[in-house]
Amino acid sequence: MSEMIRIDDANCRQFLDQAALDAAQQRISASLRTLQERSGPGSDFLGWVDLPIEARDNLAAVQSAADRLRSSSDVLIVVGIGGSYLGARAVIDALRPPFASGGPEILYAGHHIDGRYLRALLDHLEGRDVSLNVISKSGTTTEPALAFRVLRRLMEKRYGKTGAAKRIVATTDASRGALRKVADEEGYETFVIPDDVGGRFSVFTPVGLLPIAAAGIDIAPLLEGAASMRTLNAHADPARNPSFHYAMLRDALYTAERYIEVLASFHPQLQYVTEWWKQLFGESEGKEGKGIFPAAVSNTTDLHSMGQYIQDGRRSLFETFLFDAADDAAIHVPSAEDDTDGLNYLEGSSFADINRNAMRGTALAHRAGGVPNASIELNGITPATIGALLYFFETAVALSGYALGVNPFDQPGVEEYKRNMFALLNKPGYEERGAMLREQLGTR
Ligand code: PA5
Repeated sequence: MSEMIRIDDANCRQFLDQAALDAAQQRISASLRTLQERSGPGSDFLGWVDLPIEARDNLAAVQSAADRLRSSSDVLIVVGIGGSYLGARAVIDALRPPFASGGPEILYAGHHIDGRYLRALLDHLEGRDVSLNVISKSGTTTEPALAFRVLRRLMEKRYGKTGAAKRIVATTDASRGALRKVADEEGYETFVIPDDVGGRFSVFTPVGLLPIAAAGIDIAPLLEGAASMRTLNAHADPARNPSFHYAMLRDALYTAERYIEVLASFHPQLQYVTEWWKQLFGESEGKEGKGIFPAAVSNTTDLHSMGQYIQDGRRSLFETFLFDAADDAAIHVPSAEDDTDGLNYLEGSSFADINRNAMRGTALAHRAGGVPNASIELNGITPATIGALLYFFETAVALSGYALGVNPFDQPGVEEYKRNMFALLNKPGYEERGAMLREQLGTR
C-alpha cells in the first residue's frame, strides 16, 4: 500500500531547536518501548493495539447484521455518546458522500440530553422504518440510556415487542450493565465491546464497525489501512513511523509551552474526525494538571472566524493541518465573459488546487504570526486512509500520554459532573452531595 499519511513539519522547525527535538525523540522512544512492552499505566487497556488484525475474525457477523439493518430500515439511529458514537460518526461523515441517497439515513441520539432534538427526531421518524444500534460499554451511561428508553418505547408501540427486538442491536459489555440485561431479556442481537478496549479506542470494534458497515462503507479496507499503520508504528524512528513523528513534535512543542493544539481540517467531511480526535486527546492527556488542550477548526470556513485569533491572539498554541493531498473532486472554475467578480484569473483552476493553496497560504501566514504548524497529508479520503489516520492518532496519543507521565487510558475526570447531576436529580444514594450542592446554588 503506498504511503497513506505524510507529515510535513517544515513550519515547526524555526520554533524548535535540535536539542529540543532530540530530547523529545528520546522521550517518545521511551514511550514506544513502554507501549511495546505493555509496561505502562493502563496496560490492561491495550486491546486496541491489535484490533486491526483481530477484528477481521468478526467481520462476517458484523457485515451480516449491517446488511440486515440496511435492508430493513429507512433510518438507522446510533444511540451512544463519547467513544460509543464519535468513531462511527467520524468515519461515516468522512466517507459517505454529502447528500448521499441509497441505504438508510444514519442519525444519532443519546449524545446529549436536549429534549427538543429528541422531539424533532421522533417527528422525523413518522412513517419511516427505523432500526436502532444502541451502544454503551458500561451499559449505564445516562444520556444514551435516556434516549434509548424513549426510542425503545416508540419501536415497541410501532412494531410490537417481538418486531422491535428484531430491529434493535445492542453493542455492550459481554456480561455487565443494564443494557446487557435488557438485551438478553428482550432477545436483541448483541455485539461485545472487549474489556481491554476503552470507549475512545473502540472504533475498530463493533462499536464503530457495525454502524459504519450499515452506512454502506466497506470495513475491510478500513481495517487494512489501520493494519498498515500498525506495522509502521513498530519503528522507533520518526522518519518511518508517522505516529512517532507527530508525538515527538507535540512533545517538543508542549515543552516549549505551547499548550493548545488546533487541528485544522480543510475538508468539511472530516469535521467529525476532528471531534473524535478531540475526545481521544482530551480524555487521554488532560489529567493531573497536564496535557495539551485539543481544539479544532474547519477551514476555510473558520478562517473567517477563528482565523483572527490564530493569526494574532495569545501565542500559546500550535496548529496541525489535516489535508487531502490527493483531492481530485473534478470541479473547475467556469469561464465568465464579463469577469465582474474578478475571478477570471482562476478560470480552469480546480477547487482542489485553490483549497491546497489556501492551506499553504494559511500555514505560512500562521508561521509568520508565530504559530508553529505541521500538516498531516492524506493520500485521498478512502476507507484505507481513514483507517490509517485513526490508528495513527491512537498510537500517537498513547506515546504522548506516556511521555507526559499520565495514564492515557483512563478518564477519572468525567465522573465528577455525573455525581453532581445525579445529586441534583435526587438519585438515591446522593442525598448528602445534593444538600451540599443546593446550598452552593442557593436553592433548596
Ligand atoms: O472514552 C470513554 O470511555 C467515554 O467517552 C465513553 O465512551 C462514554 O462516556 C460512553 O460510555 P459508555 O460506552 O459506557 O456508555
